[in-house]
Amino acid sequence: MSAQSPVRILIVCLGNICRSPLAEGVLRAVVAETGRTGQFEIDSAGTGGWHAGSPPDPRSVAVAARNGIDISAQRCRRIEAADFETFDLILAMDRANLDDLLALAPDGLHAKVHMFLDYALGQDAEITDPYYGGADGFDRAYRIIREASLSLIGRFA
Ligand code: 4NP
Repeated sequence: MSAQSPVRILIVCLGNICRSPLAEGVLRAVVAETGRTGQFEIDSAGTGGWHAGSPPDPRSVAVAARNGIDISAQRCRRIEAADFETFDLILAMDRANLDDLLALAPDGLHAKVHMFLDYALGQDAEITDPYYGGADGFDRAYRIIREASLSLIGRFA
């Protein structure tokens, strides 16, 4: 088998504190459990920078931990121009994130930007922000992110 460069995937939400850090951890876990470590590089970022340098929301850390995933060492960051060059795929959690990413993307790089659930599952749907809701919103987000992550890596040989 010839060595191939990894597929670089950046997952983006608004704050990089609830959804995308969870998705980063879940996607990384799915890659590891399917024996595909090394074939993917995964990171996350927010379109907003209010939480830069902070750990993920404790509710995201908790739902990840309940499912055997430690995301506590992640730190929030804002997307930067270089990310559009570095990553092969830039996946938005909701339509506002998608619009913001398309507005930020340099010329010629818009095709890297997709909705996460559309790209992974062919579903015209958002992963809505669980920030103002209860813990059940984080559990729901976890379940759909896991299903989508399994499907997403299945798209790559
Ligand atoms: P996220 O949720 O986009 O899933 O990280 C948010 C959390 C906090 C804020 C926005 C979004 N906020 O404005 O503080």
